[in-house]
Amino acid sequence: MQRTAIYPGTFDPITNGHLDIIRRAVKIFDSVVVAIADNKGKDPLFGIDERVAMVQEAVKDIPHVEVEAFHTLIIEYCQKKKALALIRGLRAVSDFEYEFQMALMNRKLDPEVESVFLMPKEKYSYLSSSLIKEIAAFGGDVACLVPEGVHHRLKRKFAEKKERK
Ligand code: COA
Repeated sequence: MQRTAIYPGTFDPITNGHLDIIRRAVKIFDSVVVAIADNKGKDPLFGIDERVAMVQEAVKDIPHVEVEAFHTLIIEYCQKKKALALIRGLRAVSDFEYEFQMALMNRKLDPEVESVFLMPKEKYSYLSSSLIKEIAAFGGDVACLVPEGVHHRLKRKFAEKKERK
């Protein structure tokens, strides 16, 4: 039986911390699907197609990884993909409460799908997509914190925004 795990998130944009989690997950499962939520509530900087493209580019050298957008409950998406597990990253204690709540709710919706928590390298434990966007918006250097393609897109996005002002 193929052991598939889903790694869901908004990925606005994907960071090196997310990539670290994906690399750990492929060591445990036969395949990993990075599932990108539209998450309009978070008012993403990048559209869903751009986020899918950025993740696809970032994982192109990691075998057994698929990237897809999803528009349903994550648990329904897991069922559709016949996934055994949901992967989430835990960066610090502050992530725990929200993750615990989501894991238990997802378990209530489908007890067959396990939530699995992986810790990124310490050097990524302070990273978040919002912080990356904030630094990039002010022209700060995020080159060592995100994949190269994301770095270019961030620069382009904020240059376009500046031009429009
Ligand atoms: N490295 C860097 N940053 C990380 C990280 C890591 N390893 N792990 C988490 N983060 C950051 C993200 O960058 C993000 O930062 P931001 O808030 O500044 O954007 C933050 O932690 C959490 O984001 P993310 O991991 O993308 O999760 P999310 O909270 O945006 O997404 C979903 C949550 C999409 C998985 C969840 O809302 C969902 O499942 N939605 C579908 C609908 C559903 O089923 N709802 C019921 C759930 S019980």
